[in-house]
Amino acid sequence: MERQDMNIIITGASGFIGRRLVDCLLGQGTMDTMDTSGSANEPFRSLVLVDMAFDQEFHDERVRLVRGSIADPLVLRDAFRSPADCVIHLASVPGGAAEKDFELGLDVNLGATMQMLELLRRQTIPARFVFASTIAVYGASLPPLVTDATPMRPVLSYGAHKLASEILLQDYSRRGWVDGRIIRLPGIVARPPAPSGLLSAFMSDLFWKLADGEAFTVPVAPEAKTWLMSVGCCVRNLMHAANLLSEAVAARRDFTLPVLRISMSEIVDAMASMFGSDRRRLVTYAPDEQLEAVFARFPEMDMAAALKAGYTHDGTVENLVRNALAGRDPSIAL
Ligand SMILES: NC(=O)c1ccc[n+]([C@@H]2O[C@H](COP(=O)([O-])OP(=O)(O)OC[C@H]3O[C@@H](n4cnc5c(N)ncnc54)[C@H](O)[C@@H]3O)[C@@H](O)[C@H]2O)c1
Repeated sequence: MERQDMNIIITGASGFIGRRLVDCLLGQGTMDTMDTSGSANEPFRSLVLVDMAFDQEFHDERVRLVRGSIADPLVLRDAFRSPADCVIHLASVPGGAAEKDFELGLDVNLGATMQMLELLRRQTIPARFVFASTIAVYGASLPPLVTDATPMRPVLSYGAHKLASEILLQDYSRRGWVDGRIIRLPGIVARPPAPSGLLSAFMSDLFWKLADGEAFTVPVAPEAKTWLMSVGCCVRNLMHAANLLSEAVAARRDFTLPVLRISMSEIVDAMASMFGSDRRRLVTYAPDEQLEAVFARFPEMDMAAALKAGYTHDGTVENLVRNALAGRDPSIAL
């Protein structure tokens, strides 16, 4: 199949990652400072964007917008009315919201994935299906080194539904009904400042506040280690997953993305060297026990297999900072 014939469907296209992915596909975005050959500005016949709402206009005749919930079968049938060549499934109810509203999380994070897989099962040619899973599938109390053998015991319904979706996607792929690619995302930065209600929001806020020269109190200790990736690098990995040949993914479809394991003080140092050493004085630390338990104790990760499969992290903390801020301030984009 020629690429220019492709019909691509993206769910969650209005979200933090979805927007950057769409910009990139339409050739308007900055990916990151790494090699983007074969990733950005791919030719395609049509791009179906699915989300609850869109606040952006697209002046591109290849783009079709489908508004509504992916938990609604009519919305999905509309989105999938032409056979899909590639689906990039990003829509989800975040962990905190899914924990508060179990039915909503079940319907969107698991039910809609199942509905999509069932629609794709009826196609004659299996579609590539890139699934944005999460490191939340691992649950709490990670061992000192996370490897491919680390058990997955999610402690939130969000992680449980993502893991269940992974298993179903593996099974539909085994049967030859879809061509699945699963990537588990770490914390992605820097989400634009907005009241998201996400407990992890402080990690993105740190980037924006220091870039703007504003004081910020970090709710974890300076040495708190976390797994991070810039949104540009995340988009590059999504594109890589979509671009991999079927033969390349047949032996193994699921990867936890490589990460930078970095401390809060390393981020502050990188921002100080980029924006000026006065940035250090803007930061105070007030560790919160609950946030420390969830976000501050990420262990080492064995990333060898994911790197070998062509997935990447940001390389250095400096690159991560640059790539994390690149979306908002074009002068920062390299
Ligand atoms: N951002 C991260 O740090 C991170 C980490 C791990 C995994 N992920 C996964 O990556 C994916 C994208 O993350 P993001 O940060 O862009 O999330 P986001 O919340 O910014 O975007 C998700 C989008 O999905 C849409 N959506 C939610 N429910 C929907 C429904 N019922 N029907 C249609 N659209 C719906 C939302 O409107 C939103 O635009 C998600 O699946 C998320 O679980 C993200």
